[in-house]
Amino acid sequence: MKPISKAISRASCLLSASMFSLYSLAGSFDEHPYELSASFKTPMDTLAGLTDWGQGINYVYAITTIIVGIVFLAVSIPLIYAIRRFRVSDEEFATLPLPKQVHGNVILEFTWTIIPVILLLFIAVPTWQIIFRQPEKHQIPPGSMRIEVIGHQWWWEFRYPSLGITTANELHLPEKTPVYFELSSVDVIHSFWIPQFGGKLDVMPGKGAENYLFLTTPSLQHPEQNGGEYYQGQCAELCGLSHALMRFEAVVHEKAEFERWAAVFHNPPVVQTALEKKGELVFMQCMSCHTISKTPSEDIEKQMLAMDPPVHKAGPNLTDFGSRRMLAAGTRTNTAQNFHDWVDNPPSIKPGSRMVPLGLSKADIEAVAAYLRYSTAKTY
Ligand code: CUA
Repeated sequence: MKPISKAISRASCLLSASMFSLYSLAGSFDEHPYELSASFKTPMDTLAGLTDWGQGINYVYAITTIIVGIVFLAVSIPLIYAIRRFRVSDEEFATLPLPKQVHGNVILEFTWTIIPVILLLFIAVPTWQIIFRQPEKHQIPPGSMRIEVIGHQWWWEFRYPSLGITTANELHLPEKTPVYFELSSVDVIHSFWIPQFGGKLDVMPGKGAENYLFLTTPSLQHPEQNGGEYYQGQCAELCGLSHALMRFEAVVHEKAEFERWAAVFHNPPVVQTALEKKGELVFMQCMSCHTISKTPSEDIEKQMLAMDPPVHKAGPNLTDFGSRRMLAAGTRTNTAQNFHDWVDNPPSIKPGSRMVPLGLSKADIEAVAAYLRYSTAKTY
């Protein structure tokens, strides 16, 4: 038994060492340390199961792991026993008679067919139960919040039809609320994934190809703190050059705080300094792609949408940009330097970016940074 226990402890050491190095790699890649919610150590832990949807998937994982473990033991223990017990030398082997042949034995063949069928049924039934817990579009429980998730190369658009809000790359959610995501894409196939919430779902282009995901948002880990709790999201379907940089953050708020967020969302930008005023003028050049509520860019958007067929702006809505923690779809923190680097040369940060270098002077970038980072910040 001693060598076996040694081997097991060595294997577990090796496993934890490699997990640790993977985690430190993830830590150095992200430029800001993720403030993680409570007991969860990694920002993309798929086993956290913080929603009913995630817990359902973990339940199927657990059943499958237990059954697979039993099969593993049931096969490997007799195998190891037989190897040790019936070991013979080559010379001895040559003298042995042929073992009893079982080919065509009905009872044996029936047994080793029926056992896997039963085991697979034990896995299949809970899997079906969890899959069918996802309601069809017409079965969506009344009172759940509908959020449209639209995938773009390489950023996320979030629309709240009931609140008239469109935002990007930061998905604000009230806690403990049934939410119904309607997933679609304007270009290629993406995949919507907040690992700690549970499994991913494809985001497909084309009319009628929408996918639906229903879940109840998690409760707050630290209800005494303000400002919401952040969870990392990531596109999980190879969708082009910057697929790996197509990230977002889900922010779970206390219900009253979410309502305050929604209430101030459309407040017009507060332009205070001369620099912000100059930035407001520079932003005129950005209006064919970006919208900020209660500014002329909103009128341009209305005109574009009134065209036949309607034309959607190519870039993210920036109404609440000043309040966002990250920029460039969750790849950089929203600092003045990162803003400058992004606007100066977007493809240097996100290869293949649809936003091209605009040739703005350093002074113009500084001004538009002041306007976007301060004037559009909302207090809630
Ligand atoms: Cu979008 Cu990968």
